[in-house]
Amino acid sequence: MTRLKYMKFYEDRGLEISKAEGQYVWDPEGNIYLDFHTGHGVAFLGHRNPKVLEAIVSQLENVATATPSFKVKIREDMLASLENVIPAHLSHVTLLNSGSEAVELALKIARKTTGKKRLVGFSGSFHGRTMGALSVTGSPRYRSSFEPLVGDTIILPYNNVEALDKIDSETAGIIVEIVQGEGGVIPAERDFIKALKEKAEEKNAILIVDEVQTGFGRTGSIWAFQHYNVEPDILVAGKAVGGGFPVSLIALPEDLALKLEPGDHGSTFGGNPLACAAVKASVEVLLGDNVAGKAEFMGKLLYDKLVSKLRGNRLVKSIRGLGLMLGIDLRITPGSIIKCAQSRRVLTLKAGSTVVRLLPPYLITESDVEWGVEAVARCAYEELSLKTPT
Ligand SMILES: Cc1ncc(COP(=O)(O)O)c(C=O)c1O
Repeated sequence: MTRLKYMKFYEDRGLEISKAEGQYVWDPEGNIYLDFHTGHGVAFLGHRNPKVLEAIVSQLENVATATPSFKVKIREDMLASLENVIPAHLSHVTLLNSGSEAVELALKIARKTTGKKRLVGFSGSFHGRTMGALSVTGSPRYRSSFEPLVGDTIILPYNNVEALDKIDSETAGIIVEIVQGEGGVIPAERDFIKALKEKAEEKNAILIVDEVQTGFGRTGSIWAFQHYNVEPDILVAGKAVGGGFPVSLIALPEDLALKLEPGDHGSTFGGNPLACAAVKASVEVLLGDNVAGKAEFMGKLLYDKLVSKLRGNRLVKSIRGLGLMLGIDLRITPGSIIKCAQSRRVLTLKAGSTVVRLLPPYLITESDVEWGVEAVARCAYEELSLKTPT
């Protein structure tokens, strides 16, 4: 036993992972698990994606450390590759290390470039655990112990068009998830996103779309906002963009980038050559392997199978999501079903207070879908029989 203990900020799942490959992980006894958890969505391109692995290893043998003060070829190559997936109206990119850090920068940019202060977030949202990101995070359970947070931030009800009237011309930035992840896998309504975009334009506020969880093909398009025919002023991405390497990014248009100066932001590890190599290779996989198209196809299959197997189970309120970001909303807390699925060797995770969330990698097969659905459905029926008096 070591003297030092690792902080328990996360629930202990009682499982050691000693090997991971593609859509599977293994415990030290050699038992295989189907991974619909993917490290909160990170391993969407599969564990140890060979192209990403090769790119990181070869960069490691070349230049592993260099800040953006110094030119490195891989950064230029990464930009050339990223250009194929970043919307045309966004011309500048910077890499950071986590979703929260990217959100922080987006909020700072909204304030600096508009000269205004107010930041708006939505109920049920999750944008990260740093103080700025928490300030626009709607779920009280993440915020309440740390208040007061950043000043002049307001939280409006999600998917409520009328409430958008509270956004006035004092507003610097508005941050939104197109499908709320942590909040319970809740897709935005079309009218809401349309009205939000119009309101942001009318009030000269920056619309920040947080695609940390939804981005990079997960919802069946490269970015979730593409389903809604709306464009962000600032795009925030993370999790899957490095194919497992810890990296996040923001993309912004030229007019905003020109209002920022050296020193306005920085990050020791941000944009390091290994992250650049990981992002470049991940974009190549994303496009070269039609990841978004496969996520759409497998997502639909998974959704249909879940619906057909769980229809009739009174514990299930609804099944929802987009692409390979799905949630089973229950009439109970989801812990027992997540635990039971793990005992059947399928890893899932929680969202909100009642949702079993499924974040599979894009390369799952039809037999993986069978396995995953069978496990979750059996668990849900076992739970139902326990809850139903005989
Ligand atoms: C939508 C969204 N934004 C931001 C974050 C924060 O990302 P990180 O945990 O990498 O800081 C998350 C993490 O789950 C997220 O889902």
